[in-house]
Amino acid sequence: MSHGKALACAIRAAKAAGGLMLKNRWSQKKINSETKHDIKLELDVRSQKTIEKILRKEFPRIPVLGEEGFTGDIKEQTRWVVDPIDGTVNFAHGIPHSCVSIALQENGQSVAGVVYDPFVNELFTAVRGQRAKLNGRPISVSKRDKLEQAIVSLGFAKNMFTMEQMLPTMTKLVNSARKIRIMGSAALAAVYVAAGRTDVYLEYGVRLWDIAAGGLIIECAGGEFWNRPVEGEHAYHVIANNGLLRRELEKITG
Ligand code: IPD
Repeated sequence: MSHGKALACAIRAAKAAGGLMLKNRWSQKKINSETKHDIKLELDVRSQKTIEKILRKEFPRIPVLGEEGFTGDIKEQTRWVVDPIDGTVNFAHGIPHSCVSIALQENGQSVAGVVYDPFVNELFTAVRGQRAKLNGRPISVSKRDKLEQAIVSLGFAKNMFTMEQMLPTMTKLVNSARKIRIMGSAALAAVYVAAGRTDVYLEYGVRLWDIAAGGLIIECAGGEFWNRPVEGEHAYHVIANNGLLRRELEKITG
């Protein structure tokens, strides 16, 4: 299948879902469920349905694995991986830092990806083998090669185990990096590295749909997206960087 055609369809779906976010920005958000460190909105579900409808209309045989459930046989070699609202807690609280993330995967590898931030109308895209783009213009990771000059984004996944793993790493990074940022959207954290705004994104136990598109976009912008699967959870330990900071990061993360 043509990855370019898949990307065009994913862009349409991401923009439709982003439109829903903007339309509902100021309205009372209906919460479907809450846990100690997470909120799930009715709009997450509606947004995933919107995305699925667009993707499946053009590609009826390709299954969709999303944060809000799946359609079709997601063990197929080709599948979509969708986060309808990444940064849900930000969105629920009215913080305009969240996005839509859609990736096409073949044999477990992302080959096309879109991350769309409707609040600033930024569309990050990539097709494996081609340069990543932001609103149609090529982007590159930063050239900073010292951690002491770097901005490091961290993510705290939703369970205590991964949070406790992150805390000692964070303490070390607070001392070694120029700045730490914890902004609440894994997909945006990834594409900010791709665009050279930040230099590193690190999270333990982040879910596949949060980073499937962003990881590809980093690689297609010349960066490095190191990830190790967490067994049985569609989750990963991720160290993403501009490709120049890996040694210093390894000293810190062990
Ligand atoms: C969450 C955000 C957050 C990250 C969590 C994710 P959600 O995704 O991306 O930044 O730290 O690991 O689960 O629930 O808002 O789609």
